Formats: sequence, C-alpha cells, structure tokens
Amino acid sequence: MREMRRAVCPGSFDPVTNGHIDIVQRASALFDEVVVAVGVNKSKNRLFTPEERIEMLREACAGFENVRVDGFTGLLTDFCAQNGIQAIVKGLRAVSDFDYELQMAQMNASLTDVETVFVPTSPEYSFLASSLVKEVAMFGGDVSALVPDFVHRALTERLSRRPD
Ligand code: PNS
Repeated sequence: MREMRRAVCPGSFDPVTNGHIDIVQRASALFDEVVVAVGVNKSKNRLFTPEERIEMLREACAGFENVRVDGFTGLLTDFCAQNGIQAIVKGLRAVSDFDYELQMAQMNASLTDVETVFVPTSPEYSFLASSLVKEVAMFGGDVSALVPDFVHRALTERLSRRPD
C-alpha cells in the first residue's frame, strides 16, 4: 500500500484569514492529510494567544475532512519528523514573499528530508495579510470580507478591549 501523503500548512495565523483558508483547502485536495500548525514567530506581536488561534482555525477548517489543527513550538522540521509529514505547503502572494520563503524552504530542506510546495495565492487574496487585517480593524476599517464571520467578531471584541 502507498505511504500516506501528509503535508503541513504552518503559520502564525494571528488571526486566520480567508487567504489562509483558501490555501489549506487547496492543500487538502493535493494530500491525504493536512496538518495546520500554529507556530510561534518570535519577531511578531500577537493579538490572539496560540490557544485562541488554534480554536479559530479548528472552526475555520471544520468542513475539511482530512485537515487537523495543532500547535507547535521549536523547529518546524522537528514537528514534521514527529508527525510523519513529508511536505510543507506555503502560499505565495507576490514576488516579495519569495526571497524569505525560498530561504526558509532551503534551510528546512538542509535540516531534514522535507519538501516545500509553493501554492500561488488566489488573486482575490493577494493583498491579504493578518498584520494588515489587524491594522485596518484597529483603525475601524471594514475587514468583514477578508476573514470568517466568527474571526471578525473576535477581532472586534478583542480590539475594543485594548487600552490604545
Ligand atoms: O505566518 P508566519 O509568521 O509567516 O509563519 C512563520 C512560521 C511560524 C511558519 C515560521 O516562523 C516557522 O516555521 N517557525 C518555526 C521555527 C523554525 O522552524 N524556524 C526556522 C525556519 S527556516
């Protein structure tokens, strides 16, 4: 029998956007199983805790049968080894994403036997980033078309409780 093809969609997901969900859905059509892995990017400020981000992703991915959501700390390649994952799936929005993503893909490949698969972002999401969604929402802009409804509600609620 053929080995199970398993991929990871890693990210900070602070919070999950419709662009992320599009990539996860497309990855789920390519692989037997997809693990959405919420990691810690130390250079970024967080709005939601890892547990809250995982919870929102579980709700967002509930309709995808072969997708599960998990958290990880430490190296992504260690998470891949521990979970029998052969491929890392990353969405590429624009050429500006490519330099850093290529560097990470090559670093990860040098650490272990894992392949990175780049999926081009659907054009309607090419400008979408969690950091921009947070900034626009913080200043009262309408991001309701960019994230699921329950994420929009969580964003509005969280930002209304922030001191600044
Ligand atoms: O959504 P992000 O912030 O671009 O996600 C970045 C993430 C979490 C996928 C990346 O920072 C990561 O893989 N972190 C885990 C630590 C690690 O393996 N670092 C070496 C990368 S080559």
